[in-house]
Amino acid sequence: MLSKAMVDSLNKQIQLESYSSNLYLQMSAWAEIKGLEGCAAFLRAQAQDELAHMHRLFKYVYETGALPVLGTIKAPPTEYGSVSELFQKVSDHEQLITGKINGLMTLALGEKDHSTVNFLQWYVAEQHEEEHTMQKILDKIRNIGETGSGVYFIDRAIGMIAGGK
Ligand code: FEO
Repeated sequence: MLSKAMVDSLNKQIQLESYSSNLYLQMSAWAEIKGLEGCAAFLRAQAQDELAHMHRLFKYVYETGALPVLGTIKAPPTEYGSVSELFQKVSDHEQLITGKINGLMTLALGEKDHSTVNFLQWYVAEQHEEEHTMQKILDKIRNIGETGSGVYFIDRAIGMIAGGK
C-alpha cells in the first residue's frame, strides 16, 4: 500500500506523461505541415512512448489498490520558430521529466517504499536514454546547420533515428 503523498506524486507524473504525449503529438503536427516528415515521425513515436509511460504508471497505481487520476491536461503550444527551437524545447522538457522522476525516487527512498523504488528504476533508465537521444539530435542540428538544404538533411537524420525506435 502506498502513502497518500506517494499516490499524489505518482498521479502528478501520470498527468505529466499524458501532457508529454500531447506535447510531442502537437509538435509532430507542426513538423508535418512544414514538410518535415522525418521530424514528424520521430515526434509521433515519442508521443507513443510517452503514452506507454503514462499507462505503466496508471497500472502500477491501481495494482497497489490506489486510484490513478488523469485530471486536466493543459493544451500544448502549437507554434515553433525553427527545428532547433522545437528540439531544444523537447530536450528541456525531458530534463524536467528527469527532475520529476528523481523527485519521485527521493520520496520513495525516504519512505523506504521498496516496491516503488524498484518500479521507478525503469523510468530512471528510460530518462537516461531519452536525454542521450535528445543530445544526439541537438548535436546533429548544430553540426548540420539550418541554412540552405541543412533542414532537409536534419530531417533525414532525425527520420533515421525514428526508424530505429
Ligand atoms: Fe516519459 Fe520522455 O519521459
